Amino acid sequence: MNLPSLDSIETPAALVDVDRLELNLQKAAAYVRDHGLRWRPHTKTHKVPALAARQLEAGAAGVTVATPREAEVMSAVAEDVLLAYSPVGASKLARLMALPRRVRLSVALDSHEALAGLREAARASGRTVGVLVELEMGMRRVGLPSPEGAVALARDASESEGLDYQGVMFYPGHIRMPLKEQGPALAEVSRRLGTFLEALEAAGLKPGLVSGGSTPTLWRSHEVVGMNEIRPGITPFFDRASLWMGVCGAEEVAYSVLATVVSTAVSGQAVIDAGSKALAKEELPVGGYGVLGDRPEVEVRALSEEHGMLDLSRTTWRPRVGERVRVVPNHVCVSVNLQDELWAVRGEQVMGRWEVMGRGRGPV
Ligand SMILES: Cc1ncc(COP(=O)(O)O)c(C=O)c1O
Repeated sequence: MNLPSLDSIETPAALVDVDRLELNLQKAAAYVRDHGLRWRPHTKTHKVPALAARQLEAGAAGVTVATPREAEVMSAVAEDVLLAYSPVGASKLARLMALPRRVRLSVALDSHEALAGLREAARASGRTVGVLVELEMGMRRVGLPSPEGAVALARDASESEGLDYQGVMFYPGHIRMPLKEQGPALAEVSRRLGTFLEALEAAGLKPGLVSGGSTPTLWRSHEVVGMNEIRPGITPFFDRASLWMGVCGAEEVAYSVLATVVSTAVSGQAVIDAGSKALAKEELPVGGYGVLGDRPEVEVRALSEEHGMLDLSRTTWRPRVGERVRVVPNHVCVSVNLQDELWAVRGEQVMGRWEVMGRGRGPV
């Protein structure tokens, strides 16, 4: 492939530092090995099959996806695909059933309605689909809030032809405080999870898989009693939220958006060509929408669609129009979702280009 020089790439452009990416993969792989955890990384973060393949080589047991399109794209490289999202609707079910037969598909759900639809689709297509019953662990988004409800759905799944009841899953998305302060919240997840596991075991429905995990809680996953699989997504790249929570150091953030300073006319700020359409407008308790990778004192204070306002009040640095900067966004997944491509870089050298194939909703 003929690769451009970094200077010639039009901004805004998403960059992935390949050396940091590799170290992040190895560190996550070592952690799950050391703690005997199954690792099924969520690929919605990068949406790139080649990166999923790298995660599988590094020791992942399979991949997690959020949409039928991601399932289709990742099926090219993975044999084990978990859709961590309730598959409701005929079109989505049809696309899932049309995945290559070599793919072991499993699905998370929290309703008898979704289960009935999946059972019918599995029966009609003649394939067996794994089922994980989704539990509510404090985020209050989806998942069954009571052990009785979980037992009833697990029983329904285990008695359904074409479905294979494999266990339970949850996402602890409410735990978004610094790593050091997570102890009580993790203990509460263990306590709560324990009540579900006891009830399921008593009903003869002991889950083989207990799938959880997130990037904020990644390095403390082993503290969740009973969990045997994790599905972190952000981990290979990290972002400003991960930095703020102490999940990674500045030298581990592999993703940034390359941007050009386009205006310094208004005092106290420099304006870059990466706005909400490149960085995404996700908030963090510390304020701002991103930070410069090599100047953490410079924050993206405000965003409009095509403009990012860099706050220069805590720096003596005065950029010129035309200067380029690398911005670490608050939340990497939503920034990646706005890109057509990711550029693999090593320092100033462009090493490759990945199309963000899992974006969008339509069939591949
Ligand atoms: C169901 C589910 N599993 C796993 C993940 C990945 O976790 P993280 O984004 O914290 O890396 C997410 C992220 O939103 C999720 O919704």
